Amino acid sequence: MTSIFAKITTATVLSLAIATPVLAGNPAVKARQSLMQLYKFNIAQLGGMAKGKIPYDAKVASVAANNLKTLATVDQTAMWPAGTDNDTMFGETRALPAIWASYPAVEENADALIKATEALAGAAGTDLASLRGAIGGVGASCGGCHKKFRAPE
Ligand code: HEC
Repeated sequence: MTSIFAKITTATVLSLAIATPVLAGNPAVKARQSLMQLYKFNIAQLGGMAKGKIPYDAKVASVAANNLKTLATVDQTAMWPAGTDNDTMFGETRALPAIWASYPAVEENADALIKATEALAGAAGTDLASLRGAIGGVGASCGGCHKKFRAPE
């Protein structure tokens, strides 16, 4: 019994070792999803203030908006390798094949986000009205790209 158990254990360990890279996910996919999570974290603070759910704080708003501006300019070239669309890697990504099929169309949406976050970074720390006036443009940039290039959940 002991030897059979030992064999099963060895086999299990080996199969886990082989399975691990798959379970851990494609690093490029993880990287771009993590970048999106950073967008979300920062815009959530600004959205909370714009909606009056959290008190307006000029410093916090300015930091979050500047983070968004910086994040929007991160070079994502290596995060979107061919073959990482949701047809090929279903369940691991929501990136639609259109990103690659209609490239460089997606770049327009990335550029729109840069412009919108620049405007927000210039306004967010001024006062609540300025923040409210500029946040819609950023939300529209996020949503515009998702509509064209991200599969629904
Ligand atoms: C240029 C296109 C584009 C822009 C601009 C964009 N996104 Fe995305 N976003 C995507 C795509 C494509 C995915 C799917 C990525 C994947 O699953 O591999 C995604 C996924 C996400 C996700 C899910 C990430 C995860 O963990 O799976 C969040 C959250 C998100 N975006 C938030 C945002 C926010 C907030 C903004 C604006 C500040 C934004 N995105 C701007 C294209 C974009």
